[in-house]
Amino acid sequence: MQTSALFDRGASRYDLLVGLNPGYHAELRRAARALAGRIRPGQRPARLIDLACGSGASTRAVLEAVRSATVLGLDASAGMLAAAKAKDWPTAVSFTQATAGDLDPAALGAGSWDGILAAYLFRNVPVERRDTAAAETFDLLAPGGWLVVQEYSVAGRGEARWRWHLTCWLAIIPLGVLLDRNFSLYRYLWRSVVDFDTTEQFCDRLAAAGFVDIARQGASGWQQGILHTFVARKPC
Ligand SMILES: C[S@@+](CC[C@H](N)C(=O)[O-])C[C@H]1O[C@@H](n2cnc3c(N)ncnc32)[C@H](O)[C@@H]1O
Repeated sequence: MQTSALFDRGASRYDLLVGLNPGYHAELRRAARALAGRIRPGQRPARLIDLACGSGASTRAVLEAVRSATVLGLDASAGMLAAAKAKDWPTAVSFTQATAGDLDPAALGAGSWDGILAAYLFRNVPVERRDTAAAETFDLLAPGGWLVVQEYSVAGRGEARWRWHLTCWLAIIPLGVLLDRNFSLYRYLWRSVVDFDTTEQFCDRLAAAGFVDIARQGASGWQQGILHTFVARKPC
């Protein structure tokens, strides 16, 4: 099954499942604040993209961090977008279906965005499209704009990798089956993290796309060593 079809199927229960994940919303808020603290929008409201906005949890975090912002949520899954659109949003927030790795930056406003948050996107982009997806974010940003990526990565980290296996098979997958009857999505979630880049490989992708000032911060709690927040700037 295609990734977006897996998310379509899981969309109605997605908020419930992530709500059970201790620290999920707190880490999204931390990533959104990392973006908010870096952007310099000047006189006009900041223009921000929430890339892979899903059901809108990360969009909400962005909006809370930069209250006056214009926010465009993009996601490949029609089901997740429908869940996001069903929520209450100010008129400055909009949503569009689009697939990272196959975006049209010119149509979306190349060079016109102050910041992009991509929370839990990149491991879902097929490995052969990941460099393209990173290049698309670079093209969308204005000079001096910031990309913030939140992503799970356990490759090359033995202890974190084992904790990820145990967390998935003892908690995440059983809960996904119990509450959503959706073994496929939560098994995919486990596997996509196991197969994702090392943090160093991912930083190299960002550098190859042209980003500078690339840095990584870890998470706390059970996600320590598993979840990472990357920041990167498009040069002026
Ligand atoms: C784990 S959810 C995260 C959603 C949201 N960012 C959040 O933090 O709650 C991952 C989202 O990525 C979307 N996605 C997967 N591959 C994508 C791609 N290539 N382009 C855009 N969205 C994608 C899925 O449809 C799903 O909504």
